[in-house]
Amino acid sequence: MESIYYNESETINIDDIKQVAQGIREGKLALFPTETVYGIGANALDENAVKKIFIAKGRQSDNPLIVHISNINMLEQIVEDIGEIERKLINKFWPGPLTIIFNRKSENIIPNNVTAGLNTVGVRMPSNKIARTLIELSEVPIAAPSANVSGRPSGTNVQDIIEELDGKVDYIIDGGSTAIGLESTVIRVVNQKIEILRPGKITLEELESVANEVEVNKNVFERVIDKPVASPGMKYRHYAPNTKCILVYSKDKEKMINKINEIANSYKNVIVLGTEQNLKNYIAKNKLNMGTTLEDVGKNIFTLLRKADKYKADLVIIEGVGKKGLGLAITNRLIRACEYNLSLIHISEPTRLDVI
Ligand code: TXA
Ligand code: MG
Repeated sequence: MESIYYNESETINIDDIKQVAQGIREGKLALFPTETVYGIGANALDENAVKKIFIAKGRQSDNPLIVHISNINMLEQIVEDIGEIERKLINKFWPGPLTIIFNRKSENIIPNNVTAGLNTVGVRMPSNKIARTLIELSEVPIAAPSANVSGRPSGTNVQDIIEELDGKVDYIIDGGSTAIGLESTVIRVVNQKIEILRPGKITLEELESVANEVEVNKNVFERVIDKPVASPGMKYRHYAPNTKCILVYSKDKEKMINKINEIANSYKNVIVLGTEQNLKNYIAKNKLNMGTTLEDVGKNIFTLLRKADKYKADLVIIEGVGKKGLGLAITNRLIRACEYNLSLIHISEPTRLDVI
């Protein structure tokens, strides 16, 4: 296994990336940073290389991978038709943390295991410099899921990832902690409407600037086990630490703090994940600071969920952040991390975002 380390401030050494790109062309696996989370990448045109990703992650074969590209030519080679709204989305949000589901080219240029046999393919052009350079030098699109063992929180720094994936990839490119910390927004366009299949950094509110109608797929916040879903990733246990978690949220800050303390009181050994502004109000001995803004929480949450496990507590209590803006993506990940163990205290009529 080759490791290449970069500090965020350092410039990329093209020769190093060239070496990894050569490996990708030869069917090897590389761990690389994107602006969202780290990915485990392989040549998206090489079925055998892609098979190794599923093995490394222990991922179900019916869960398709996102194909990462570095230029629009690559997109035109793999997808059938690019609609008007998709073009607007590309112009506005690429390169960046938005995955768009397209119809896949009928010649099956992208092998079946990448798309899990679907006739659609999810594509994104990352903005992270290392990721884009790697794809460009590989001269092939790179299929990459988030870097984590299936079901676990996504990897946002190499130290966390090595704990569970060491020895399972051929190359590691260390680009420091990822800037956003949550995976990309996944959308599809159906009848001129944008449908969010996985919320992310590109928010519902931002998508509304491109299409008249934006909706969140109803399964995004539902527990789905045995029914057909628009995006197979929705079905699986996800983002979960080994310790049991509960998500507590109320728009009334005082009520939320009281509830968290009440729950903490009824267990012997708990750990609370809270925002910096509220942390001092929690009676628990063990507390982890999620930061002050939604951006901070997004960036820190996966690594904190992993850290919380190390305390071997009876329960992890997580302060909720609501569903506005980036809150929608954070809440989606936290609900799943808590495996739907929620304490949501509504104090007023629920708004549009409360009911999804
Ligand atoms: O930010 C990200 O998207 C990261 C970085 C590495 O780019 N990647 C990532 O990949 O999160 P992964 O495999 O962990 O999640 C991909 C999600 C899954 O929920 C999958 O079901 C969905 O995208 N997906 C992929 N292709 C799809 C398709 N054709 N139709 C519907 N959903 C799809
Ligand atoms: Mg994932």
